[in-house]
Amino acid sequence: MLFSLRRLIRGKKKEYRTNESITEDIISAYNETRVVKNKDLLCHAPFSNLYFNTEGDVAVCWKTFHVAEKYDESKSIMDIWQSENFKKIRQNVEDETLNYSCQACRKHLEEGNFVNVLSKAYDLEEINEDMPSIIELELSNRCNLACVMCNGHLSSTIRRDREGLSPLQSPYGDKFVEDLRPFLPHLKEIRFNGGEPFLIKIYYKIWDLIFELNPQLKIVIATNGTVLNDKIKSYLSKGNFHINLSIDGIHADTYENIRVRGEFDKVMENFKYFHEYCATHKRTLCIMVNPMRNNWQEMPEFIEFCNQHDVHIWFNTIEKPAHLALWSLPSKDLQQIYQQLSDYPFESYRLLKTAIQKYNIRTYKNFVNQQIKTWCSEALKREENKIIEANKTIETVLDILKEKIQKESLVKKIEDTISLLDTKSLQINFVESIIQSNDQDIEAKIEQLTVSEMYQLFLNHLSK
Ligand SMILES: C[S@@+](CC[C@H](N)C(=O)[O-])C[C@H]1O[C@@H](n2cnc3c(N)ncnc32)[C@H](O)[C@@H]1O
Ligand code: SF4
Repeated sequence: MLFSLRRLIRGKKKEYRTNESITEDIISAYNETRVVKNKDLLCHAPFSNLYFNTEGDVAVCWKTFHVAEKYDESKSIMDIWQSENFKKIRQNVEDETLNYSCQACRKHLEEGNFVNVLSKAYDLEEINEDMPSIIELELSNRCNLACVMCNGHLSSTIRRDREGLSPLQSPYGDKFVEDLRPFLPHLKEIRFNGGEPFLIKIYYKIWDLIFELNPQLKIVIATNGTVLNDKIKSYLSKGNFHINLSIDGIHADTYENIRVRGEFDKVMENFKYFHEYCATHKRTLCIMVNPMRNNWQEMPEFIEFCNQHDVHIWFNTIEKPAHLALWSLPSKDLQQIYQQLSDYPFESYRLLKTAIQKYNIRTYKNFVNQQIKTWCSEALKREENKIIEANKTIETVLDILKEKIQKESLVKKIEDTISLLDTKSLQINFVESIIQSNDQDIEAKIEQLTVSEMYQLFLNHLSK
């Protein structure tokens, strides 16, 4: 009912689309790539998901923590679900602007990079807006590894050894576990991140509660795969667990250089256990990889490995730290990476036997042809801008200004103001601020100002 109403309203709204909305062409192209039938909303996350992080921030997904709510024991989970802030997030999806909280997905959509649009991870056929259908938990940073690209919010080992900080104080205790009780019977999925989930004590209490209230509930664990003992095996045997296993190197030296304190042989031994477990119980096993400067050469081998074992691959996007990320490389390096990765001679797509193998090849091709290509053109733009910046002179920007402001007396006033500014960059910045102004009455305004008033206004604008 709610959805047919929404479709009706949306149909009407299309006639009045604002410039800020994502275009219909992009939405249609993206919708073509979605597996779900219910495509009424661009993203289901604000209508279906709650993500709790290690510091008590609660968001609708991990890309929206800049507009999070705060969990503490004075609040219920329902208060957060019904908060004004979350209503605003839902509104920005209904309006298809994605400009309040969802800029990251908007960027991927506008680049045509549909595989990396996070909203896909929340596509559900049915949504019960009265309460979440998915809950994602990142309740503690307790972790035994210190991976080079990770940080102290997510790893207690990094926080202690690399950052030299005192332990994070967790707001989640037994009250939180009890607060989850009314939600668990209605959930379709619950995801456990960390830290290392198998080392986080509160998760065992939540799993016990799930076994009691909703034993069929889909439980997805993101694990580094280094810890596996009889207790964990016994929990795995009681619930509907699905495993996302993070391995960032397919050779021991690459793996151990990235996943500091991890042992490649141990992880491979544990992979065998998870593989057997998932195959026997018909559960999903997905290998999570972060393509970075220190492992990108191994991406084809990851695909071969996953296809050989018929398990899924997923490529995370590393944005930070920039010095390890691929996006921040010079365009010529990215071009070379693109060339090498796209030349890799995989077995013909037609000859692949399983849906998972085909999915893995498509994921790889998307990573190379969409993601790396986009990074390449962004790097080119950055480099062009640098050249333009370096060659810019006050004379060249004044020439552009004169196309906008033709009255000689006003140009003279601007030149007099320039002479009060000490550096070349300040002078250029001042002229550009006038060129870039959208004010229709800019000439009238300059007319009214004295040189010293204009100078003062510019300094005020700089200090904002
Ligand atoms: C923080 S870990 C927590 C779960 C578990 N410890 C693991 O490593 O899978 C969750 C995922 O985030 C990835 N990750 C780590 N550092 C990252 C970064 N800087 N940017 C994006 N993803 C990152 C990990 O590789 C892993 O797949
Ligand atoms: S294992 Fe996971 S949480 Fe731990 S340091 Fe590595 S990426 Fe971070």
